[in-house]
Amino acid sequence: MSEHNRIPQHIAIIMDGNGRWAEKHGKERYEGHAAGLEPVRTSLRSCVKWGVKYLTLYTFSTENWGRPQKEVDSIMELFCQSVISETPELKQQGVRVRMIGDRSRFSQKVQHYLAQMEEETAHGENLTLIMALNYSSRDEIRRAVSRIADDARKGILTPEAIDEQTISQYLDTAEYPDPDFIIRTSGECRLSNFLLWQASYAEMYFPEVLWPDFTAEDFDRAIEVYQQRDRRFGLVK
Ligand code: FPP
Repeated sequence: MSEHNRIPQHIAIIMDGNGRWAEKHGKERYEGHAAGLEPVRTSLRSCVKWGVKYLTLYTFSTENWGRPQKEVDSIMELFCQSVISETPELKQQGVRVRMIGDRSRFSQKVQHYLAQMEEETAHGENLTLIMALNYSSRDEIRRAVSRIADDARKGILTPEAIDEQTISQYLDTAEYPDPDFIIRTSGECRLSNFLLWQASYAEMYFPEVLWPDFTAEDFDRAIEVYQQRDRRFGLVK
């Protein structure tokens, strides 16, 4: 495939702007999150259409627990409801759902629903949807370092043998390639504790559109933007 036609193998999205969308439309914040489900569906279909193999969505950060309880509860309810409403289409589209983050902090009910979604979609071969849940990059790195230290103590690893690949293998994302392209909607230009290790060579794109307004056309435009980028990975052409 020519440089110009290349498709990112892994896209990661920071779905930002739900709250501002709700405010703009005179709605409650939770309605902004509910409206954020449609662009998730659209993006999944677009990934399957373009042949993107991995899509990571920053769905609930470790910091998000600090939001008002009512908002946190409504997001949890949305997760459970979407397992029921979305699983049939995910299966039909060949989407396999996986999670990164520390899910032990979620209620038993939420953990049950999430596990059910992973189990029911386990055979999807077209696209892997990776939901970052109770995820933050620093927390992921902290957990990885703790496990590395534990394995070193047990003699499974020697400190001299620890290289970049070792660290990657202890992260939640060990099974997946690094993201090629990170999109953050709503015009904010920062990573906010998302995939800091994995984003080393990712291209980034910050469209102004609020997440609930992100359409299939916006997704196609993002692919065009990616195709115009010149990726050198620290090398010369
Ligand atoms: C950020 O917008 C969005 C979130 C913290 C929640 C993301 C959740 C969804 C889009 C629902 C999708 C659900 C599934 C099951 C994938 P914000 O609230 O920070 O927006 P603001 O910056 O405008 O306040």
